[in-house]
Amino acid sequence: MSRLWSAVVHDLTPYVPGEQPKLANLVKLNTNENPYGPSPKVLEALRAELGDSLRLYPDPLSDRLRQAIAARHEVTAANVFVGNGSDEVLAHTFQSLLKHVAPVLFPDITYSFYPVYCRLYGIEYREIALTDAFEIDVDDYLQPNGGIIFPNPNAPTARQLAQSEIERLLQANANSVVVIDEAYVDFGGVSAVPLVPRYPNLLVTHTLSKSCSLAGLRVGYAIGHPDLIEALNRVKDSFNSYPLDRFAQAGGVAAMEDQAYIEGTWRKVIESRERLVADLEKLDFDVVPSTANFVFAHHPRRAGGDLAAQLRERGIVVRNFQKPARIAPYLRITVGTDAQCDALVGALHEILSESAASSPSSALS
Ligand SMILES: Cc1ncc(COP(=O)(O)O)c(C=O)c1O
Repeated sequence: MSRLWSAVVHDLTPYVPGEQPKLANLVKLNTNENPYGPSPKVLEALRAELGDSLRLYPDPLSDRLRQAIAARHEVTAANVFVGNGSDEVLAHTFQSLLKHVAPVLFPDITYSFYPVYCRLYGIEYREIALTDAFEIDVDDYLQPNGGIIFPNPNAPTARQLAQSEIERLLQANANSVVVIDEAYVDFGGVSAVPLVPRYPNLLVTHTLSKSCSLAGLRVGYAIGHPDLIEALNRVKDSFNSYPLDRFAQAGGVAAMEDQAYIEGTWRKVIESRERLVADLEKLDFDVVPSTANFVFAHHPRRAGGDLAAQLRERGIVVRNFQKPARIAPYLRITVGTDAQCDALVGALHEILSESAASSPSSALS
């Protein structure tokens, strides 16, 4: 530990992103990327941006992009904030809207960046246990708080909270901001964005990383009442006036405008997910119902960490979280192409058959 570090840095436990392995021919099912490439119109827009204009700073307000996002969601540009990936949007949200005397509430099993932001910004937080079926029980959130945040569908569980329950939460918490992180909503979930005009305490965050196949471009956004957006802009302009470069803005606009292409990738992912779930169930896995582009599953007779390690030996990467203990048995598996899912299922079949052969009492059913 360096004596030159500030006290804040000494106390940080940074978020650990899923591995981006440098190995070739890997079946990469660990960070919930979209298995299909971005829209050809995005690639065209990026090529058009490559030129002399790069000597100029980008638009600090990302006006065209905010307008394109507003048009897609049928809101106004004044309802839209954009950032360098939704991680940056979330970071600014924690600092500008969730830092109060009362603790911010989020589920005990959720996106593991949330507690990291709290520690970075000195925000009190309380983790609320999900039910045994990994569901959010809104009654548990009816207590004094400085804000509420969770992904819907939740990550890594993939479970979705019903719209009527979100409304109940918004009504019961009129004096705090409720943030719904919709990183995965486009793969079959129901968005809370249509509730924005009725609830000034609602902020919905989205990312182009998964739904638009643009994890490499780093574009995320939030939709909410203009007062919430102003708070985010105040933090942004106290941090970095140009978080989205010229490529991100141009590519983001093209992605928003090519709805037909991105919806086609969502449909393919949803179909592959249903197929993958059926195949995993045939191998005896318990699969949590998913409306996301990943599934959360465990095998009754095999440890999650062991399965993940054995898959990796076969060139397939999935994610296993050892904490909290009740999710240690689970694998979080990104839905890939059908060919990638088949490779995963084939490898799991092999692994489970080998262990069944060495221990007849745990034979595969
Ligand atoms: C729930 C959730 N929110 C937000 C993000 C961040 O997405 P990005 O920063 O790529 O927009 C992720 C990424 O995995 C996520 O799982």
